[in-house]
Amino acid sequence: MADPLSTLNWLVEAGADEAMGDAPVNRLAQKPAAPPQSAAAAEAPAFVRPRPAPPPPKSAPLLPDDAIGTAMSLAGAATSLEELRAAMESFDGCALKRTATNTVFADGIPSNVLFIGEAPGRDADRIGRPFVGRAGQLLDKMMASIGLSRTSNAYITNVINWRPPDNRDPSPEEAAQCLPFLRRHVELVEPRIIILLGAVAARHVIGVTEGIMKLRGRWLDYRVGDRMVPVMPTLHPAYLLRQPGHKKLAWRDLQAAQAKLESL
Ligand code: URA
Repeated sequence: MADPLSTLNWLVEAGADEAMGDAPVNRLAQKPAAPPQSAAAAEAPAFVRPRPAPPPPKSAPLLPDDAIGTAMSLAGAATSLEELRAAMESFDGCALKRTATNTVFADGIPSNVLFIGEAPGRDADRIGRPFVGRAGQLLDKMMASIGLSRTSNAYITNVINWRPPDNRDPSPEEAAQCLPFLRRHVELVEPRIIILLGAVAARHVIGVTEGIMKLRGRWLDYRVGDRMVPVMPTLHPAYLLRQPGHKKLAWRDLQAAQAKLESL
């Protein structure tokens, strides 16, 4: 039989990290014959538990377009990173916020290099800082390989500021509701280069749908006011943990980023 702790760890790694009930349910136990039910109920699979009705929303949720408009005006009014963080924390237009533990704003020192990831994972959501789990540890090593660190000369944020349930990809609507904050974030940090971590960041920040393997390693531009900021898409550290053989590609991209910084 599998070691129960390893099984539990594996389930948590796979994203099944929320309890559905207070007491364990032995679904293999023989049940006494149930009283006759309606045909529909009788056909329902035995493992489907009726879900309690969701609680009524405290206030009517914003319509998607209103939410984007609200995000734009809140983000646009922020004149400092502190104000932007407060604006994001006051924004209720993204449904992801309702299931997240924390708003994940950023980490590091506003400086020449801005790393943009995808969305908070389980650890980032719990702690309220981006890239604090295993992918974050690898990101720290990637940064250190070109003389960067979040304690001195690099800044990290995500496209999405609230953890999507079960680490699913954010929907285009959810991304659109977070993007005004990201745009303002970039304006306030004023980086000289941006490094995009993974396909989801590349898709939402520069609007390209090509696979990351085609995109990575090529400089693109991101307009901030009247300035163009060079952008380098590279592989996400979580992907590199699964495909360590591709670390050499990320290493090349990071070296190109270092050379670009020296040339600016
Ligand atoms: N944690 C983050 O904050 N962002 C990612 O993209 C992955 C993990």
